[in-house]
Amino acid sequence: MNVLLIGPPGSGKGTQGERLAQRLGLRHIAAGDLLRAEVAAGSSLGREARQYMDRGELVPDELIIDLLMPVVIKAGQDGGYLLDGFPRSVAQAYEARRLAQQEGVGADAVIYLDAPRDELVERILARAKVEGRADDTPDVVRTRLAVFDEATAPLVDYYRGRGLLHVVNAARPADEVTAGILSVLGLDDDAIDA
Ligand code: AP5
Repeated sequence: MNVLLIGPPGSGKGTQGERLAQRLGLRHIAAGDLLRAEVAAGSSLGREARQYMDRGELVPDELIIDLLMPVVIKAGQDGGYLLDGFPRSVAQAYEARRLAQQEGVGADAVIYLDAPRDELVERILARAKVEGRADDTPDVVRTRLAVFDEATAPLVDYYRGRGLLHVVNAARPADEVTAGILSVLGLDDDAIDA
């Protein structure tokens, strides 16, 4: 199974991606984590990406597609992926679909994690105190949310139109969100544990 997790900053993509991948035996691919690894390694891709990430803007499509799609295709061929944070625009979605379909590893379902703005900001600012992520400052968070509204939110209609979208209420405890996702995927907890 190949699943996409989309949602605004702080909606729980990383948290749920990790849990679900483990439960479902899928490879968790987190766009932000792969980018941060490139930044930490000081690669040329990382150096270029960092300028955008530090401002809360999307890195250029070509760069993210070159970084992610080989990993996504490999995971799809190896048994399935749980992809978090990509695609993040309709243009990325078109290109990702084109490349994935060539290899027979297109998405089977898209989960949209929905939560009110206040809750998102509260979670991110709480994390900032603990982890100190460079883009978790109030100004950059504002930009990340605006970028989500402008570039990423249109994916909701795009995937609804393709019949792949499931909206899940992400403003509840993480266990309940996980159960909600498994339920919309038609996979209840008992079946997974069995
Ligand atoms: P990325 O790392 O993907 O950041 P983001 O989308 O802003 O998301 P976050 O990591 O802040 O939140 P999340 O939804 O994963 O929630 P999490 O589980 O962490 O991307 C960073 C940057 O990389 C982008 O700004 C961009 O520059 C670049 N980039 C990435 N992908 C790109 C792409 N496709 N194209 C171009 N550029 C790209 O949870 C957040 C916090 O809340 C945590 O502390 C967590 O413990 C807590 N939490 C989670 N769930 C719950 C819950 N249910 N209840 C209470 N607390 C919770």
